[in-house]
Amino acid sequence: MSIKEDLMNKIINKTAVVGIIGLGYVGLPLAMESSKSGYKVIGFDIQEKKVAMVNKGCNYIGDVEDSEFKEAVSTGMLKATSNFEFIKQVDIILICVPTPLDKYQQPDISYVKSSTEAVGKYLHSEMLVILESTTYPGTTEELLLPILQEISGLKCETDFYLAFSPERVDPGNLKYKTKNIPKVVGGIGEKSTEIASAYYKGVLESEVYEVSSPKVAEMEKILENTYRNINIGLINEMAIICNKMNINIWEVIEAASTKPYGFQAFYPGPGLGGHCIPLDPYYLTWKAKEYNYHTRLIETSGEINNYMSQYILERSTKILNRFKKALKESNIIVLGVAYKNDIDDYRESPALRVIENFQNEGAEVQFNDPYIPVYKYKEKIYYGTELTKEILNKADLVVITTAHKKYNYDFIQKNSQFIFDTRNATKDVINRENIELL
Ligand SMILES: NC(=O)c1ccc[n+]([C@@H]2O[C@H](COP(=O)([O-])OP(=O)(O)OC[C@H]3O[C@@H](n4cnc5c(N)ncnc54)[C@H](O)[C@@H]3O)[C@@H](O)[C@H]2O)c1
Repeated sequence: MSIKEDLMNKIINKTAVVGIIGLGYVGLPLAMESSKSGYKVIGFDIQEKKVAMVNKGCNYIGDVEDSEFKEAVSTGMLKATSNFEFIKQVDIILICVPTPLDKYQQPDISYVKSSTEAVGKYLHSEMLVILESTTYPGTTEELLLPILQEISGLKCETDFYLAFSPERVDPGNLKYKTKNIPKVVGGIGEKSTEIASAYYKGVLESEVYEVSSPKVAEMEKILENTYRNINIGLINEMAIICNKMNINIWEVIEAASTKPYGFQAFYPGPGLGGHCIPLDPYYLTWKAKEYNYHTRLIETSGEINNYMSQYILERSTKILNRFKKALKESNIIVLGVAYKNDIDDYRESPALRVIENFQNEGAEVQFNDPYIPVYKYKEKIYYGTELTKEILNKADLVVITTAHKKYNYDFIQKNSQFIFDTRNATKDVINRENIELL
């Protein structure tokens, strides 16, 4: 039996052991789906705290079902470790580590590099390696392939297989989850693509779409997120113009959405947040420079989206001015620090910059978020406040930055002096006398 057939058989009869490096928003749901479909899973993470939580059956990711998680751990289908030597025991290894930007807005690929080196050290024949972290086109071929081949002495497509498959999970999305989002797969060669596809077909309910190379898969992921980034930039600019022209942007978007083709609705807000949309396009910007190309649209969109937190400050100042109040020493409550509604993730959240801007101008700022009681930003700890009648009433201005469904907007409207709603979260509130929209 050839190497490929042997690994393929293990994948088909579910005797392959799956390893997942990085047990975060991407890795943990994938670990769960793999174990639910019948594969034994070993999760790897450098955070001892996460490893301990997994092994105790304590779930920490909103998209993962608590009872299913407990069962996977108690039946031995899922375990975690910080000891990378266990990579020796796995047949398939998926890399799901962070890909942030450094302080110069350049790709910080160090997490991917160090995980790949760990895999290279324990790589054995009949093994499949898949990178899921979002990254610049070329990473799998130019970074992973040489590291893996050099450290292990093994040859890709002969001894082991390597592919890129972008993760598209949308935390908090109730309809589309890891299991039913179509998966794009691009291997180093045909064998890698075929074998990686077979694994995903065994785990997911969704279509698996094969492309001709890892580069195509890497680029399509960047295209998806750049498309969102730029369209949000466009609608934020539209919101600024609409406000100047006294036109309700939200009504405009609703009207445009009646067109059955050629228009997709995007919504304005205080800026971009999360680990993906604000960062991923800059992976392309950086790579494009190698080809002497400057990504103009990405930069312009970034400028507009980054300006939004400053714009919130300017609009808030004008609102307070109408009430003959200065921003300095005003009492402001910011509602929602998560970067989007109904989740507990505040990475890159624009609300953090909005709060910082208010503080820099001498306002007394409090925040509330039903999902985030406390957060850390630039080495400073921020503690949330309760959302009582008294606290709302005392505030000169309530600024809604995240449209959490948990909020009772009627209660907020009734008990607030004035609300600046940057998300149209209060759209169903009947009395809107004391509400101004972005
Ligand atoms: N969060 C999302 O919505 C989302 C969606 C699609 C794609 N992505 C991409 O997926 C990747 C992972 O994102 P995430 O949100 O899951 O990140 P995360 O921060 O939630 O999880 C990453 C995990 O990797 C661990 N880690 C870091 N370095 C490691 C190493 N060398 N070895 C082992 N573990 C290590 C961290 O401790 C952490 O637990 C990123 O490239 C991101 O752009 C994220």
